[in-house]
Amino acid sequence: MKALILMGSPRKGGNTASLTAPFVSELQAKGVSCKTFDVYDMDLRPCVACRTCQKDWTKFGCPQDDDMQQIFDAALEADLIVVASPIYSWYCTPPVKNVLDRLVYGMNKYYGEEMGPSIWKGKKMALISTCGYPVEKGADLFEEGMKRYAKHSRLQYVGMACERQRNYGEQFMDAEKEQAMRDFAQKCMEE
Ligand SMILES: Cc1cc2nc3c(=O)[nH]c(=O)nc-3n(C[C@H](O)[C@H](O)[C@H](O)COP(=O)(O)O)c2cc1C
Repeated sequence: MKALILMGSPRKGGNTASLTAPFVSELQAKGVSCKTFDVYDMDLRPCVACRTCQKDWTKFGCPQDDDMQQIFDAALEADLIVVASPIYSWYCTPPVKNVLDRLVYGMNKYYGEEMGPSIWKGKKMALISTCGYPVEKGADLFEEGMKRYAKHSRLQYVGMACERQRNYGEQFMDAEKEQAMRDFAQKCMEE
């Protein structure tokens, strides 16, 4: 099994990275090959709705010359795609949104003259998130949006693991969160 992790926090040792670490270590311990992209370190531009990607159903086909092709190729190879993002203004961070927009067009060939296929159909999608509000008020809209995104793309939505931090002074990780992330990794492998 192969997993692609889209790490979407600008804070390298921050909450989202800390929550994702035991998840990835559990996957790797069970033999899953994991590839992580730190999207803040990449050149990832927004979709400009040119729809060039709709002309050829066999490839990404985006004319923008940036780092997105690497993510597209890794997503096609992966069985599990993990979007790990802190909540910013009730959704994911801007580079993650750029990636999601580029993938929803490049992977779903629905927007050309004829209705085409979802070329990533059947892959699993899971979310890891952190927020400041209680989870049900901080990350609910992101999860709902991503459930629809997965359904529209014919992906299998596995679930979201999310934790809050009330303020930056508070210790974030503990043994309970670490175990919850290992259990979530297990769920991602089983379902
Ligand atoms: C610009 C910005 C916007 C934020 N917006 C929200 C929000 O809408 N809802 C929320 O619950 N937390 C919000 N937060 C808090 C972060 O989601 C939270 O601190 C998160 O754990 C940070 O993750 P990180 O350490 O991986 O960067 C925001 C933080 C920043 C910096």
